[in-house]
Amino acid sequence: MSGADRRLRIVMAASEAVPFSKTGGLADVAGSLTQALDRAGHDVVLILPDYPSLRHGRPQVSAVSSTGLQFSLDMNGRAVTAGLNWATLPGSQVRVLLVSQPEYFDRTQPYGDTSGSYFDNCERFCFFSRLVPEICRKLVLQPDILHCNDWHTGLIPALLNTVYQGMKGLERTASVMTIHNLAYQGQFQDYEFPLTGMPRRYYNMYQMEAWGHLNLLKTGLAFADQLTTVSPTYASEICHTENGCGLDGVLRHRGQSLAGILNGIDEQIWDPEQDPRIPQNYSIETRKAGKAICKQQVQQSFSLRQDPDVPLVGMVTRLADQKGLDLLAAGVDRFLAEGSQLVFLGTGDRRYEQLLRDLPGRFPGQAGGCIGFDEDLAHRIEAGADMFLMPSRFEPCGLNQMYSLRYGTVPIVRSVGGLADSVIDYTGTTESLREATGFSFRDYSTDVLLQTLQRAVQAWRQPQVWDQLVRNGMKLDWSWDRSATRYLEVYQRALKNVDLRAAQGRM
Ligand code: ADP
Ligand code: GLC
Repeated sequence: MSGADRRLRIVMAASEAVPFSKTGGLADVAGSLTQALDRAGHDVVLILPDYPSLRHGRPQVSAVSSTGLQFSLDMNGRAVTAGLNWATLPGSQVRVLLVSQPEYFDRTQPYGDTSGSYFDNCERFCFFSRLVPEICRKLVLQPDILHCNDWHTGLIPALLNTVYQGMKGLERTASVMTIHNLAYQGQFQDYEFPLTGMPRRYYNMYQMEAWGHLNLLKTGLAFADQLTTVSPTYASEICHTENGCGLDGVLRHRGQSLAGILNGIDEQIWDPEQDPRIPQNYSIETRKAGKAICKQQVQQSFSLRQDPDVPLVGMVTRLADQKGLDLLAAGVDRFLAEGSQLVFLGTGDRRYEQLLRDLPGRFPGQAGGCIGFDEDLAHRIEAGADMFLMPSRFEPCGLNQMYSLRYGTVPIVRSVGGLADSVIDYTGTTESLREATGFSFRDYSTDVLLQTLQRAVQAWRQPQVWDQLVRNGMKLDWSWDRSATRYLEVYQRALKNVDLRAAQGRM
């Protein structure tokens, strides 16, 4: 059977997914896209590493039980075994398979701790990637599509097209590789290559090697049938040297197979009308009263002056250079000197943690926040702030600006990647007010950031203008179903590749 509307068997592999684990947007996407594909009528299996300490204590995680299956791989001369647990994604029929290997995955964080990335990340994620085709075979999943995400799973398309080529159960499987962030590539020393289980001849500059290192993301980009990234603007940015992180050559080469698909958001989890984590639910109709209560609660809990007439800017972010924190560091004193309030939630780079930790002491009643990862607080800040700041240096997609729009919290963003594709700048004219949803700036400069914040504060002081911006944003549709349709188109193109390969093989 063929045709664009047949039910596909889709296996998604990712290193994290909500509600099982989360360090950033990848987890939101893996958890939501799989559900949207399931809603569209496809048969979806999600394969993840099992991080027991991360899933414990998460009430949304449904029962996890063992499949009783065991897998064993030779990891550079050492036999390593793993179990396989299973669960379902709450509210869907998506089956979740969790690779249980405590030595690799029973750690407090998925990728590293305060002293940096784990020394054995190459081994951990090569193991995970190598198990994916094994699991497909043993469980007779016979996927039409193996959808891989970021460097942690970049080895899978290569295995599929080489070691597993023509193997029963995988002979018609197409692979899709999604780049969530090109800055993280899984680069390792060449002596780690044997962990990949690939023949050495593939360690060359066209396939698995980049700039003298084993590169697992490049591996995926070189071998997958189709490539995607998480916004149209980022798709074009990464094909240029400036934003290509050293892989723009391979991306240009594969440009015909690269699509930019904007992420959606989980409209159940991020819904101000039903969100159980915020002190007052509200809709587009009840926005004013609802947000006023949420704002007051944020001001109160962070010891900010409880004044509705002061604009409150929120930030929830990984504290990484990507997020434009050096701009904030250089400009925050000048911004706060003008009287606005800032509330932040973040964790990551020590420098920025220290900067933010010191702020409330230096600006009492005006700046407050929390260093840490706290999903409840993230929701409360989204609901309680008037504006949400994302001055990213680069941003493949970004989800918080879309959450903000849904929560009537006006985003202030740098116009790059997915931020450029999801926020429309208010220029101050009546005409622009018809469509505008926020404020954006282009130059990566502290002065321009501060001017943009001033523009936003000025608009905030004009209640009618502000309310129009809020309503424009709250009306937008960010549902995953729309993005899932685009992924299904990509899957069809990937399947055509497989047909083509099969035909070439027969010739
Ligand atoms: P990235 O994946 O680059 O970090 P995104 O905007 O795509 O950026 O996604 C970040 C996700 O992680 C959002 O769901 C955001 O709310 C969440 N997040 C980031 N930092 C924190 C934090 N400190 N506490 C709770 N949630 C956070
Ligand atoms: C990455 C990107 C972020 C994107 C997320 C989900 O972490 O930094 O912009 O939204 O992946 O695709």
